[in-house]
Amino acid sequence: MKTRFGPQKIMFPCPVSLVVTGTMEEANIVTIAWVSLLTSKPPTLGISVGNRGFSGEAIKKNRHFTVNIASTGIMTQADFCGITSGHDTDKFSECGLTKLPSDFIESPIIKECPLNLECRLTSHQMIGRTNHFAGEILQTHIDTDKLKDTGDVSSIDISAFSPLIYIGGVREYRKIGEKAGDAYQIGKKLKDRGRQS
Ligand SMILES: Cc1cc2nc3c(=O)[nH]c(=O)nc-3n(C[C@H](O)[C@H](O)[C@H](O)COP(=O)(O)O)c2cc1C
Repeated sequence: MKTRFGPQKIMFPCPVSLVVTGTMEEANIVTIAWVSLLTSKPPTLGISVGNRGFSGEAIKKNRHFTVNIASTGIMTQADFCGITSGHDTDKFSECGLTKLPSDFIESPIIKECPLNLECRLTSHQMIGRTNHFAGEILQTHIDTDKLKDTGDVSSIDISAFSPLIYIGGVREYRKIGEKAGDAYQIGKKLKDRGRQS
């Protein structure tokens, strides 16, 4: 049996991302859980940003932003950035996170986040009252101590990285669990069985 709820905005898990707008001198952080990769060539991600906060206007004006993936170690700061506004709060100084300069854009990245993406705004669309921004990823920074092999972007040690997960609907933060299997591999058991029969 299933219980029906009609149209709902429930989807999980979501990575907790801290989106930074502005410059090294004047930057703002907003917590965004509605983030997703959109396409691989060129690498582009999308974020959904409400139109009443500080950040929507800032992204439209600056035309660049950074997406910084939070770890469980900065959960309190991440939540703070989601319940305060750049309209009246200097979030960097209030929560003690550290700005580092980006390579290609003016908006800084956050040192305490293990994965940082520099993005250039490539499209903007309103869906209802929400800004949907697409940003081309110009640079990717990963904490070197979270890589098993420094030359391999896919060698991230997920346990050391400890991404902070947001569960919409129940409004909980969670840690990532144990590895369950190898993606693009485990399904081959069924695929091969289908071929044999
Ligand atoms: C866990 C969490 C996830 C959030 N995800 C989003 C989101 O995906 N999009 C959005 O517009 N606001 C989201 N928010 C709310 C904004 O972070 C919040 O409105 C913030 O105060 C806006 O800050 P600003 O005015 O500095 O832009 C989230 C808040 C929290 C705590």
